[in-house]
Amino acid sequence: MIAISLSPNAQADDVFLALKILLTPWRWMRGSAIKSLEDWFRRYFQVGYAVSFDSGRSALYALVKALGIKSNDEILMQAFTCVAVPNSIIWAGAKPIFVDVDDVGNIDIADLKKKITRRSRAIIIQHTFGISANMEKIKKVASKHKLIVIEDCAHALGATAGGKKIGTFGEAAFFSFGRDKVISSVSGGMVITNSKKTAKLLRNFQKNLQFTSLTKIFTQLFHPIAFSFILPLYNTIGIGKIILIVFQKLGFLDKPVAKEEYQGERPAFLPSKLSCAQSLLAGNQVKKLAAFNKKRRQIAEFYSKKLSSLPIKLPQFDSGDIILRYNIETGNVSSIYSFFKEKGILLGRWYANIIDPEGVNLAKIGYTPGSCPKAEALARASLNLPTYPRMNIKETMQEYFKKNG
Ligand SMILES: Cc1ncc(COP(=O)(O)O)c(C=O)c1O
Repeated sequence: MIAISLSPNAQADDVFLALKILLTPWRWMRGSAIKSLEDWFRRYFQVGYAVSFDSGRSALYALVKALGIKSNDEILMQAFTCVAVPNSIIWAGAKPIFVDVDDVGNIDIADLKKKITRRSRAIIIQHTFGISANMEKIKKVASKHKLIVIEDCAHALGATAGGKKIGTFGEAAFFSFGRDKVISSVSGGMVITNSKKTAKLLRNFQKNLQFTSLTKIFTQLFHPIAFSFILPLYNTIGIGKIILIVFQKLGFLDKPVAKEEYQGERPAFLPSKLSCAQSLLAGNQVKKLAAFNKKRRQIAEFYSKKLSSLPIKLPQFDSGDIILRYNIETGNVSSIYSFFKEKGILLGRWYANIIDPEGVNLAKIGYTPGSCPKAEALARASLNLPTYPRMNIKETMQEYFKKNG
């Protein structure tokens, strides 16, 4: 079985690097690689400041605090997202206000305007699947209502709009280096900003955090190594699956979302500092950013060409977008999903549960079912095709429609 989220970015050099770091535990926590990664972000975005954290959610949590957002202040954000986003807002004491989405799965500007109140302080703009939101229009609304703009670039590292880098349109932006993101160190995150005041507060916040624990660093280093031999063995004789279960039971592999987070609660290990081990992994991946995004685009264009005659809605994208996941919309989600599963391919389901993953307590994070109907419809209809060359998606999709009309 090939799951879309199992270390899709890890190549042979990343696996060897993880192994090398694993064998040199004195380099796991502190080291110059942390600053080098922050410097890479500063230079790449030509911004004043970059501050690293153990994850995107910790980066957002720190940012909400640094921006001086107070208890009961409202932060507007789109539905059709990951629970990490509303949770970070809640952990920082503010209130997430969910806004509906437009046709591409980004924030709907008309609904945004309706949901602004006297308590609104900021908007988080997600560039869903790497397709950029309309920043010019959003900035006009934000400046009219004196709202801080935070860009959620978890899916969009390397994207541009009108020649300008996504991540440089607002007051600040944050990134994720999660296991299935644009680049990956299994977990990791960064904030960039040009505001000296915000950067100073972020840096103070970061200084007072603990490093990610040694156990957690171990699981992160072990992740790409484990999947490098689990994946090839998965479909053959089932050994891969057995190894995977054993590693999970032994606690050698980490879950992307902790138990507490499903209930809107903050696990004790969050937030923490980005470790040197994670920085080394992410530092190796940023070198390949342009090549990764080029490949993703080629695969996306290939899908668009080959799937155009099938009765599914295909994503539309511009030249500056990066396509982290190729999201199709269909009325046959569960049967297409099962068909691919039988063939050994687990398609992606971002964000089938409107606020992913499945099992999130929507009441605890303040989402009222029915309040974002377009996002809910999109969640029901979405299936994500991977944009890395692992399986022959095109033939399987054509075969499905040949059989099912
Ligand atoms: C849109 C979006 N924003 C933020 C995050 C949080 O990133 P992280 O997993 O690094 O905490 C995610 C993670 O899945 C995401 O999908």
